[in-house]
Amino acid sequence: MTYVSPPPSSLLDHPTAYRKLQLNYTRNKQQDHTGLLDEAARRFCYDDCKDEYWNPVEFSLLYGTPLWEQASASQRIQLNQLYWVAYYAQIVSAEIATIFFNQTSAAGLYALEDFRLVCDTLDLESAQERAHIHAFRTISHQVEMALFGRPIFTYAMRSPFTETMVYADTNALKLWWKKIQLHMFGLLSSDNAFLACQYFTVRGLRTLNGKLVQHKLSAYCQRHPDLDTAPIPARISYYHF
Ligand SMILES: [Fe+2]
Repeated sequence: MTYVSPPPSSLLDHPTAYRKLQLNYTRNKQQDHTGLLDEAARRFCYDDCKDEYWNPVEFSLLYGTPLWEQASASQRIQLNQLYWVAYYAQIVSAEIATIFFNQTSAAGLYALEDFRLVCDTLDLESAQERAHIHAFRTISHQVEMALFGRPIFTYAMRSPFTETMVYADTNALKLWWKKIQLHMFGLLSSDNAFLACQYFTVRGLRTLNGKLVQHKLSAYCQRHPDLDTAPIPARISYYHF
C-alpha cells in the first residue's frame, strides 16, 4: 500500500481570515499616502514654517520644566519643532528594523501555501516605510543644519542590527549581544512561520503604543482650516498616521 500524503493546508482553507486580509491589503493600497509624503518632503523649506508650532504645545522638548517657563515665544516654537525632529529620529530607527523584519518574516510565511497576499501586504508596508524615513530625514536634516549646523538627533543611515534608541543606555557588550540576537532572529524567522507570527504580534502591540502619541501629532494638523495651510511637518505627521 502506498502512502499518499495529505494535501498541505492552505490559507484558502480559512476563507474568513483570507477575506479580512484581502480587505486590509485593499484598504492599505487605497489609503497609501506615499506620493503625498514624497511631495511634502520635496517641497519642505524650513524658512516657510520656522515660526509655527508643528505639534500640540505639550509635545515640545522640555515642556513644563523651568527652562520651558523661562523660554521666549520663539524659543518655545523651536523646542516644539525639535520635539518633532527627535521623535521622528527615533521612529526612523524602528522603521529600518521594521523593513528588515518584514522581509525575513515574509520569507518565513511565503513557505506556506497561498501566503502571497500576506507577503504583498508586507512588501507594500516596507516601501511605505522607506518613504517615511526619507521624509523624516529630509525635514530633520534641514532643521538641525539651520539651528545647530550639525546633527543632534539624526544620524547617518544604519543597518537594522544597531541600537534603536537615539541616546541609549547601553555599552559595548550590550550592543554586541543585541547585534547577535538580531542576527539570530533574522536567520530563524526567515525559516519559521511561527516565529514570524510572534514578531507580528509583538510589533502590533508596539505599533498600538506608538499610535497613542502619533494620533495626537496627526490630529494637530486638522486644527488648521485647510490641510494645505498647515506646516509641512504637521502634514507629514498626519499622512504618516
Ligand atoms: Fe512609518
